[in-house]
Amino acid sequence: MKTIVVAYDKNYGIGAANDLLWQRDLPADLAHFKEVTTGHTIIMGRKTFDSIGRALANRRNIVISRSDNAVDGVEFVHSLNDAYELAGQDDLYVIGGGQIYAEAIESAERIIATEVNGMFAADVFFPAVDTATWHETTREHHEKDDRNKYDYDFVTYERG
Ligand SMILES: NC(=O)c1ccc[n+]([C@@H]2O[C@H](COP(=O)([O-])OP(=O)(O)OC[C@H]3O[C@@H](n4cnc5c(N)ncnc54)[C@H](OP(=O)(O)O)[C@@H]3O)[C@@H](O)[C@H]2O)c1
Repeated sequence: MKTIVVAYDKNYGIGAANDLLWQRDLPADLAHFKEVTTGHTIIMGRKTFDSIGRALANRRNIVISRSDNAVDGVEFVHSLNDAYELAGQDDLYVIGGGQIYAEAIESAERIIATEVNGMFAADVFFPAVDTATWHETTREHHEKDDRNKYDYDFVTYERG
């Protein structure tokens, strides 16, 4: 299955200055991301890879770039379709960023979203989740706490 994993704010903002909007203020989302993706194939754009700065452990890391690159633990491809082909029948998780989400939302079957109850000065956005195409199948609400500075919901959308 092709799944998008994303965290966006109330305006579908996902990033600014090639970093996350809430930076380290939402560790529950990082833990959730790790739980969802560990043991699977993750696909990302080159800028997201640069932002993370390394291959993520215990996952197959595929990075999309128009250039040829070589980094330990990473497989580089030139398009989203090449990434899908390389991943084969594996469950795969498209993890961003904005450019890659905009393309992947056409072929994804599921979106695992963290909806952050805040508004930030974003310069990169997720495409709005169109309820004519996507229906919500699960929602788990969490209030802010000592470590997580914003309320957030873990939500699953499925196509159809
Ligand atoms: N909140 C979240 O869930 C989340 C998740 C991930 C990322 N982010 C944020 O999103 C931002 C980065 O997103 P972004 O949109 O700037 O960049 P991106 O989608 O991560 O990467 C863009 C790069 O991917 C490559 N690319 C894109 N389309 C391509 C195509 N059709 N063929 C070949 N290569 C292609 C190009 O790499 P080359 O330039 O090397 O050719 C392009 O510069 C950061 O702020 C990051 O923190 C947020």
